[in-house]
Amino acid sequence: MNIKITQTDQSRISEIDFNNLQFGRVFSDHMFEMVYRDGKWVDAEIKPYGPITFDPSMMALHYGQAIFEGMKAYYADDETINLFRPMDHHKRLNNSAKRLCMPEIDESVFIDALEKLLQLDYKWVPKTHGHALYIRPLMFASEEYIAATVSKEYHFYIITSPVAAYYKEGFNPVSLTTTNEYVRAAKGGTGEAKAAGNYGGSLLPAIKAQEEGYTQVLWLDAKEHKYVEEVGTMNIFFLMGDTVVTPELGGTVLPGITRRSVLALAKEWNLNVEERKITIEEVFESHENGELNEVFGAGTAAVISPVGLIHHNGKTITLDQEKIGPFAKKMFDAITGIQYGNQTDPHSWTHPVKVSSAVLS
Ligand SMILES: Cc1ncc(COP(=O)(O)O)c(C=O)c1O
Repeated sequence: MNIKITQTDQSRISEIDFNNLQFGRVFSDHMFEMVYRDGKWVDAEIKPYGPITFDPSMMALHYGQAIFEGMKAYYADDETINLFRPMDHHKRLNNSAKRLCMPEIDESVFIDALEKLLQLDYKWVPKTHGHALYIRPLMFASEEYIAATVSKEYHFYIITSPVAAYYKEGFNPVSLTTTNEYVRAAKGGTGEAKAAGNYGGSLLPAIKAQEEGYTQVLWLDAKEHKYVEEVGTMNIFFLMGDTVVTPELGGTVLPGITRRSVLALAKEWNLNVEERKITIEEVFESHENGELNEVFGAGTAAVISPVGLIHHNGKTITLDQEKIGPFAKKMFDAITGIQYGNQTDPHSWTHPVKVSSAVLS
């Protein structure tokens, strides 16, 4: 597919303070756009980032056909930007699209759009270690029609945003609380899709958790409120003894790309790895028995985020300070080492984009 490229004549990059980046607040000069109409994707275009205009009757606003992805690009050297596992993000985008009756996108189009956008906006990829260019592909129903049915028209965008570390606490531990009042996803719902509506529904419980002094909600299963599922934007891991345990994907948990990377590395390090059902009681018992060595979350935004405290039904476990982190830190270093191109990448997780080649061909 041919991508039309219109470059901005006024870059905003000089206005950006790269030493004080707030997550998701500033956006690079360009964005990718294409439209699904009459059964095919057309009008692929890279153009200056800016407002888009739609009718109030646009279907996504009413019936929720809206999905997105979240991935990152890392500065490797002056000629190379590393995308991390873009093919996996592409697959998950298409899986989300299928669940929401939205059109899929060819891998070649997705990758070509990413490469061209990065080649154009490579200066927006922060050079500081730990910082990255966050990439947000998004798709929504754009037909103008008030009827609870499948839209015939969609828009797809890729926007990018230079970011520092996600959590304001930095690499310090986060605190989690369960809730018996709310659920994130039920079996048969859209939990394993990256559907915008999943996040809308999780805002109120997240605010309540924060009001009670916790960083995020630790979601339990919708039926019994018994099994641990995941955190707001992270999958959850428990290091019990030498075994790395994480909830299995059962349709309600988002299949995280970072989760997959953690599992692969843990297996390579010859640790026991278990993807299975895990009750919140087991987590507390494991702590009581002195077996719970570490708890951490894994996700694109935070990469790895250690958990220092879990609250459930009036009980709280606090992980000893010296127990917070060594494994999480090792995992963080290993994954970021691969992302920035400082370590070998035997799985070819990084997708290098060369930025010296001319883009406007
Ligand atoms: C609900 C949820 N779980 C887990 C994750 C982690 O997934 P990934 O590692 O692909 O970023 C995310 C972030 O995308 C998320 O939104």
